[in-house]
Amino acid sequence: MNITITKNPNPATPPTENFGFGSTFTPHMFRMDYSDGQWKDPRIVPYGPFSLDPASKVLHYGQEIFEGMKAYRNKQDGSVHMFRPDRNIARFQRSCERMCMPVVDPDIFMRGLNMLIDLDRAWAPESPNALYIRPTMIATQVGLGVKASTDYIFFIIIGPVGSYFAHGINPLRLKVEEKYVRSAHGGTGSAKTGGNYSASLLPIKQAQDAGYDNIIWLDAKTNSFVEEMGAMNIMFVYEDKVITAPAGDTILHGVTRESIGTLLGDFGLNWVEEHPPIAQVMEDAHSGKLKEVFACGTAAVVTPVGTIHFQGADHTIGDGNEGPLTNKLRVALTGIHSGGSERHPEWVFKVPEQG
Ligand SMILES: Cc1ncc(COP(=O)(O)O)c(C=O)c1O
Repeated sequence: MNITITKNPNPATPPTENFGFGSTFTPHMFRMDYSDGQWKDPRIVPYGPFSLDPASKVLHYGQEIFEGMKAYRNKQDGSVHMFRPDRNIARFQRSCERMCMPVVDPDIFMRGLNMLIDLDRAWAPESPNALYIRPTMIATQVGLGVKASTDYIFFIIIGPVGSYFAHGINPLRLKVEEKYVRSAHGGTGSAKTGGNYSASLLPIKQAQDAGYDNIIWLDAKTNSFVEEMGAMNIMFVYEDKVITAPAGDTILHGVTRESIGTLLGDFGLNWVEEHPPIAQVMEDAHSGKLKEVFACGTAAVVTPVGTIHFQGADHTIGDGNEGPLTNKLRVALTGIHSGGSERHPEWVFKVPEQG
């Protein structure tokens, strides 16, 4: 399929500072429509609003999926690279299947990403800032019957985002969520679908009102094993191992999580994918067996956890500051992002200049 381009006649000028997160978008977007059993008309068009019928299924039943990934500017030569887009595309396909939506051919997905980023490459800020990429699919069939839509829009929007670390490394203060749950076996926890996030808003707000940055989710069945965070995976560092919840059907299989697993192997460390019992974790924080805790995800890459609130008390992890392994992993990953590291060149996808 040929991707057509309609250029924005009035493109804005890229900002040079204060990028924030997810509030500024480039002048173009990719769009493709699905009807009669096939994807049609892949195109790059000026960024702008859609018109949706009020009875569109996405507005009522949340048949919607998305992805979150980044492109970085190489510090040496200024070229622009996506970080492991193949993993995000694969996860998008899995989300499509779980949410009963038509898959997008990985080739057209990748070509759409490359063409869009190439066209708006001037908007890719200097590292450690990045170009955030948000592929999304929504169900647009009109009608209130509860069944999978016959029509969809797939679109990709991109925009510059600031570094999470612009103001230094502030270890996170997290609250273990002991009342609400994010996902249960057989649910949609491993799909990147909006409903998982809307259901998390109330407990996250309550935690933030109480002075915490975010929450740690426990498993829905026993309320005793750590799953993940609001929008990041979480890992626990011991003397001889790093432990994190397995990539089953209740957590999002983070691309950063998977990359860290590989890096830990490179460093000769033991990466264990099994559910950490929260009570044990807290005991180990007090005895000193638990050395570090860090969160990982596209937005904040690798960020230390300094405090965990559980059963009415704040528990400090280590000395409350960033630990050495957390730092080593963050330096390794951000080095790969900015082109300053030789590690895993296969994770870095250069956006070709098509002219
Ligand atoms: C619920 C959840 N867990 C984990 C992650 C981390 O995934 P990734 O490393 O692919 O950004 C995210 C972010 O996308 C998320 O939303």
